[in-house]
Amino acid sequence: MLKNFWYACEFSADVTNKPKQIVMLNQRFVLYRDSQGQVIALKDQCPHRGAALSLGWVEDSCIRCPYHGWKFQADGKCIDIPANAPETPIPKKARVQTYPVQEKYGYVWLFYGDLPEQERHPLPTLPEYLFSSLRPVCHSAIEPANYARLIEANIDFAHVIAIHKKSFGQRIPLDQTIRYRVEEDDWSAVATYTYDSLGSSKSFLNFLLGGRPQLTIRLSFYLPNVTLAEINVGGDGKFAIKFGILVAFFPIDENTTSAKRILYRNILKQPWLDSFVKNMDYKLAHEDTIVVETLTSQPMPRISEELHVAADALDLSYRKLRQKYLAKGWGLEPSNSASNNSNGHSVQSVFTSLMH
Ligand code: FES
Ligand SMILES: [Fe+2]
Repeated sequence: MLKNFWYACEFSADVTNKPKQIVMLNQRFVLYRDSQGQVIALKDQCPHRGAALSLGWVEDSCIRCPYHGWKFQADGKCIDIPANAPETPIPKKARVQTYPVQEKYGYVWLFYGDLPEQERHPLPTLPEYLFSSLRPVCHSAIEPANYARLIEANIDFAHVIAIHKKSFGQRIPLDQTIRYRVEEDDWSAVATYTYDSLGSSKSFLNFLLGGRPQLTIRLSFYLPNVTLAEINVGGDGKFAIKFGILVAFFPIDENTTSAKRILYRNILKQPWLDSFVKNMDYKLAHEDTIVVETLTSQPMPRISEELHVAADALDLSYRKLRQKYLAKGWGLEPSNSASNNSNGHSVQSVFTSLMH
């Protein structure tokens, strides 16, 4: 896992004035909105006895611990200990760690690391058409597989004919050679590939694509945890079908990932079709997961430990960029404080595997 990046960690719409726990990076965080609507992010651990603040409540833009009611400001400072006499000074150590947050593209982004503000990577710049003309719908899933392995599957052009052979992959010829060029910068990469099409199939998605032989997919990843798939059928034509699948992946433990997905579409835009579109996306994502969870090494092995072919170029770009930052010392250090997350998973074992 990498530090010193902005992590998309929750849908903006799901953060309210009720505290919400996020388990990520082997740690607990709590998010809530203050009276101005600003998102506040704190470590979800009271400095008194370690209770999860997320079980507490928001009061005057502060958060009260659920155990003994200590009150913490948005800057982490404790300003009230109910059991103390009013004149008793509050200990300096009565403070909770806070994290910078931003909201963009429907997500809350939390900065995890120790870089000063001016040295931080910016948030990704995503294609504007997604937000201006396509209808979004959000859904979450807990996937029983490693987050980096799932990211890799999400940016893999060559798996379509196999993993998705019963759905949209059935219209792609099996023996199609996959070649493409990767454009890369310091922390993201993108590639585009156009598939030949067999044209007919039985799935509903293929029914939608029927008569439009060209399927183009543009895949991007943005370190540390976001991918975007842009699916286009019909090129630049007036009736082109467009889907965007934006996903934030983060690890709950080495074999479990929370995936926060936002689906964009320029067809079937009626709100009552949202659940149908979500189900269709869930089915495709699940096709990935049932194979990815069988990979014998869930944590990402070193590049030299697996075989790679030309069609894996975008996956390799992801692995190399990730490796570059791990080599720079941006791998996460073990946490001494929260030895277990709220689900009772061992943090140390999770951490050890994520360092590879
Ligand atoms: S554990 Fe939070 S106030 Fe005691
Ligand atoms: Fe897939």
